[in-house]
Amino acid sequence: MEINDIYNGKTRAYGIIGNPVEHSFSPVLQNTIAKKMGINMAYLPFTVEKGSVKKALEGAYLLGFDGFNVTVPHKVEVIESLKDIDPLAEKIGAVNTLKKVENGYKGYNTDILGLGKCLDIEGVEIKDKTVIVLGAGGAAKAAAVMAAVKEAAEIYIVNRTVEKAENIKKSLEKYYKGKVYAIGYDALYNIEKVDCLINTTSAGMGDGNTYSVVEDKTFFKKVPFVVDIVYVPWETQIMKDASEMGTRAVNGFAMLIYQGIASFEIWHDISIDNETAKEIKESLEKYYNGGKNGR
Ligand code: ATR
Repeated sequence: MEINDIYNGKTRAYGIIGNPVEHSFSPVLQNTIAKKMGINMAYLPFTVEKGSVKKALEGAYLLGFDGFNVTVPHKVEVIESLKDIDPLAEKIGAVNTLKKVENGYKGYNTDILGLGKCLDIEGVEIKDKTVIVLGAGGAAKAAAVMAAVKEAAEIYIVNRTVEKAENIKKSLEKYYKGKVYAIGYDALYNIEKVDCLINTTSAGMGDGNTYSVVEDKTFFKKVPFVVDIVYVPWETQIMKDASEMGTRAVNGFAMLIYQGIASFEIWHDISIDNETAKEIKESLEKYYNGGKNGR
């Protein structure tokens, strides 16, 4: 009989809390990073109902859990249950990573770090540049804050409901010195110079979806680099249209991997170099596209 000694008495416990969590890629992602980095930890998915986050974390703390990722729908609700919050996560108003501290957990937002790392590794510079963010939900806010803290010269927030874009603009203007514009899709085509476009809308998401919020694809002639935070389908319509116009386009899988790596770095007080991060991303990409993603 084979002995299973992956875990033992010294294994540290981590997990993801959300609802639903059964499709989450994070357990495979975190357990893979742990194996690569030689860290004795286990990472499991936990379904937590809306309204139960505080109780769940009290119990988890008593059980000695060292950290969590937090996903939909708890990224905002979790904030009221924290002992401390990282200033960047506070700016975004959403938390996706918890680290055990005295008497509870401290919250961080690594979605923004994942996007930053993705741009770094792709060699895309944001400082003093023009960034367009499509959408005005939670992911758009994280992307806009990333552009602001990286000192972009101008940020355009483009949304179907312009009022929501206005809200992000207002919150950025509290600390950001560059220019922020909140506009609708009709005004998108008037933008003359763009360095990076980040799609955070869910409109093109889902296998077989061929919808793009950028109806006139010739606009991409003005855009050298596109990130779509979606990765199902693997190549979204926005990415297809952008590529057709000669634009470099990447999907959100790299961001997903890099936000996980950033969480891992926070939990273990280590820094994972870009080369190792890229190797982890490429292995997981192969695994995911080979259909072995447990979905
Ligand atoms: P998240 O918090 O994950 O970013 P969200 O808050 O649901 O998700 O936001 C989804 C974004 O996709 C919104 O900006 C939404 O636009 P509205 O604010 O106008 O609803 C955008 N979105 C979804 N479907 C869209 C569509 N068909 N056309 C344009 N934008 C769309």
